[in-house]
Amino acid sequence: MRAPGISMLLSWVATLSQLTSSGAHKGRIVGGQEAKPHSYPFMVSIQYHGEHICGGSLIRPQWVLTAAHCEVFKEPTVFQVVLGVHSLITPESTQQVFGILRAVPYPLFNAQADINDIQLLKLNGSALLTDSVKTARLPQWNTLVLPGTQCWICGWGDIPGQEDPTTVLMEAEVVVTAQPACNSSWRGSINQDMVCTSGAEKGRLQGFCGGDSGGPLICHGRLLGVVSFSSRTCGDPRYPDVYTRVSTFMAWIHDVLQHY
Ligand SMILES: *[C@@H]1O[C@H](CO)[C@@H](O)[C@H](O)[C@H]1NC(C)=O
Ligand SMILES: *[C@@H]1O[C@H](CO)[C@@H](O)[C@H](O)[C@H]1NC(C)=O
Repeated sequence: MRAPGISMLLSWVATLSQLTSSGAHKGRIVGGQEAKPHSYPFMVSIQYHGEHICGGSLIRPQWVLTAAHCEVFKEPTVFQVVLGVHSLITPESTQQVFGILRAVPYPLFNAQADINDIQLLKLNGSALLTDSVKTARLPQWNTLVLPGTQCWICGWGDIPGQEDPTTVLMEAEVVVTAQPACNSSWRGSINQDMVCTSGAEKGRLQGFCGGDSGGPLICHGRLLGVVSFSSRTCGDPRYPDVYTRVSTFMAWIHDVLQHY
């Protein structure tokens, strides 16, 4: 069971119909800054008819890791994955566009409880690795990340009330929260397969927001988490942001990479 009414779906996929009629509101990570272009060369934009809906990370030339609640698996062929992006609206020679051959959500993904929120996407071709397109470093199996560790998140997600359509990749520094504290904030709905973070600067709204879903949590240069859910008020310090812990799923990831 999860705390009533406070978690929000971070992907735009849930509102596909709205999205096509009104266009997605693009914004940015809460309390962050523009990332240095291509400083997260594994970062991808998952798009539906040219609109950004979720982030993801390139982990092999033909594979992207994202959140399962970015429900690409329902109709993979209508989505595209764009690599080498800094600005979503400016044509960039660094960009590479792929279709999705196959979407593999974790078999025990539970959308109601936000559990096992992880998914692999097989691209319809192999990315050309360049200075702007690289694969992310994965963690060792079952690596724990200590509370207080400083990490980075990035995304093209939303900021509520933000009028200025920021379309460049934003980043923010976050700090890993102790699991018992996170679990009590979220009233017992946090399990071992999740990682929580809070903003690095006290008293400031900081964290991820709608449209950042599926994006990376980078700690010590490795992809330790996949953006899963946060409070409705993005960056609210009372509710740490929650990620799927990548290291728990390494056996599954290797299995899918080998067999699909
Ligand atoms: C892969 O998908 C993209 C985007 O849908 C398309 O433009 C491209 O032609 C496809 N490539 C191959 C090799 O099928
Ligand atoms: C979170 O709290 C619930 C309820 O008290 C408990 O069942 C669960 O094991 C806790 N999760 C972690 C990771 O400790």
